[in-house]
Amino acid sequence: MALPAWWQVATPHKDIREKNFSESIFAADLGDVVGGNAPAEYLDPRLFFSKTFLTEGLKKLVKNVLSRLADGHGDPVVHLQPQTPFGGGKTHSLLCLYHLGKSFLEINHLEQVKELGSFFPAFCGAKVAAFVGTSADPVAGRTPWGEIAYQLGCYDIVKEHDMRRVAPGKERIRDILKKSGPALILIDELLQYIVKASRIEKLEKITHGQTLSFLQELSEAVAVSEKCALVLALPRGFLYTLAKLLGDFQAVSSGSPQKMGKRVTRRVARKATGRAFRKLFK
Ligand SMILES: Nc1ncnc2c1ncn2[C@@H]1O[C@H](COP(=O)(O)OP(=O)(O)O)[C@@H](O)[C@H]1O
Ligand SMILES: [Mg+2]
Repeated sequence: MALPAWWQVATPHKDIREKNFSESIFAADLGDVVGGNAPAEYLDPRLFFSKTFLTEGLKKLVKNVLSRLADGHGDPVVHLQPQTPFGGGKTHSLLCLYHLGKSFLEINHLEQVKELGSFFPAFCGAKVAAFVGTSADPVAGRTPWGEIAYQLGCYDIVKEHDMRRVAPGKERIRDILKKSGPALILIDELLQYIVKASRIEKLEKITHGQTLSFLQELSEAVAVSEKCALVLALPRGFLYTLAKLLGDFQAVSSGSPQKMGKRVTRRVARKATGRAFRKLFK
């Protein structure tokens, strides 16, 4: 007996049945959601959760982050690993966290959200800041530190550093996190930003690698701040491109991801003691 076609056993969503469907909705874009320009499937938390399949990986991630935000347990810095070459759900996972942080009290009656939030009765949402390298403009827009502080309502703390495009340092970042209260920081497409920004840094002779210094300082500050979490999606090949950008050709030619990770970590870290930062490069 021939197998039935998939659409005979699973009813497709209305937009697909009515051929009223745009391929662009497959491109999950956190920057568009933050900017309010994304398709409703991503922008509206209810619709988003109705179309989200809670994989074991997603449940584990959410559990870790909510635990961190609710009671200070769990990993402070999470690096989302790419699972498949054609889109492994990294941005989708960040969107899930974004909606949970921002709209928890409006969506906690939904079945999916109940399941995710049931372990953390103390959780009632968090301030969320999302930096997306593809949307960010390194010439006219805010820097990663400026944008994150801005979204957490503490721009004044790094205003000068943002204007001069110089990373602010750990103490100042800790001040931001202290002032903002429970904070969830999401970073997507960082490599795109580093590529764009390193060109400007070279032209304007700003010390090369400000974004990387910031990433280290941010990771360390989040690790020692209560109820803060940082979740980053770094693409496959991130280390390779990073090493190339930093001119570390020996690391690139050695070819071993472990060696490259160690070398790049040492190259970008003023003191390579940041446990959370080193975890990024594992
Ligand atoms: N758990 C999930 N439930 C429903 N759709 C998902 C899920 N994970 C990923 N997707 C969808 O699959 C596509 C690719 O995922 P995406 O998050 O953009 O991948 P990546 O950022 O890793 O390249 C997107 O349309 C996204 O919305
Ligand atoms: Mg993505």
